[in-house]
Amino acid sequence: MAREDLILGIETSCDDTGISIIKTSIARDNPEEVNLDILSNKLASQTKLHDKYGGVVPELASREHLRSLLPLTKQALFESNLDPSRLSKIAVTTGPGLKGSLLTGLNFAAGLAAALRKPLIPINHLEGHVLSAFIESKSHPKRNFPFLTLLISGGHTQIILAKKIGKYELLGETVDDSIGETFDKVSQELGYGYPGGPIIEELAKKGDPTKYLFPKPLLKKQGLNLSFSGLKTAVIREIIKCKTSNERHWKNNIAASLQTTVSSLLASKIRDAITLTGTDSLVVSGGVAANNFIRETLSNLCEGMHINLRLPPKHLCADNGLMIAWAACLKSLLQEDYYIEELKVRPRWSITTKA
Ligand code: KG4
Ligand code: ZN
Repeated sequence: MAREDLILGIETSCDDTGISIIKTSIARDNPEEVNLDILSNKLASQTKLHDKYGGVVPELASREHLRSLLPLTKQALFESNLDPSRLSKIAVTTGPGLKGSLLTGLNFAAGLAAALRKPLIPINHLEGHVLSAFIESKSHPKRNFPFLTLLISGGHTQIILAKKIGKYELLGETVDDSIGETFDKVSQELGYGYPGGPIIEELAKKGDPTKYLFPKPLLKKQGLNLSFSGLKTAVIREIIKCKTSNERHWKNNIAASLQTTVSSLLASKIRDAITLTGTDSLVVSGGVAANNFIRETLSNLCEGMHINLRLPPKHLCADNGLMIAWAACLKSLLQEDYYIEELKVRPRWSITTKA
């Protein structure tokens, strides 16, 4: 074994503080095989804090990151049985995300890196999500490229062609709201909290998915772009009607109908994307990829089209520090043209643009 690395990953792009320490090495006889040992993966969720506001409040998020970063890092080091001087690099999300949250993470990471005299690696949060599908004890991520990837989170809904590590082409994206935002907004209108996705999924289990026929905007138009604002408005209009009706189980039925509509919209666009690119594999990642119904719908689609589907384990779909540490490992080991130009936060950093 050669080139063993101990990497600290720091994620603070939105409302979760994620800290992880991994040990990685690359096999001498196979430079494409990466061995991964997860020493620690800590998460401080701010869900309760933002719940009463129905969404993430940026100022509160930054303050909470500041509170959590040091104790969480100490816990991760303790759990890994490591002195900080043994870390070989520090990786941090520098975009896209909330500016204040990103700055809090980057300043903390930069201070730590300077004090320990270790390299600091900026990571694109979206690339972190995409590469999280390859988190395995023995991984050969390089062999899986090129592949089609669907990124579904609170901030993004994108269809991307991943050509190699560090090289991505955006094929389509939402022209308005993301899927996560749509679930969050509908949950709020139903009188529930944030994040809405898991709540909608739970309600949908007892609902009739055929009860409401919601619109599927851009299904046939706009290439691989998607749109969710018309769907969101239609669902909210139905909720207002239901509130004054004496229909039973309407919340479950709304949730089930919404989840089914979103899933069939995604399946339709992904079918087109597979045909267009001729790809033989699909990676689905991001917070919404934890949804069982969406996982099953896409899994059935891929089975029918003989496409190899990769999904991160559910607990790694949401934001976490492990995917940031892992992306730093893959980029520094396997990306031929890897370089760090500048260390700054990029709240709107596209996955198609280099660091
Ligand atoms: O990737 P993520 O943790 O943060 C961003 O980068 O945005 O995604 C958060 C989003 C939220 O909108 C949340 O409602 C959604 O993921 N989500 C889900 C589920 N779990 C989280 N959506 C649908 N079903 C779920 N089980
Ligand atoms: Zn995310």
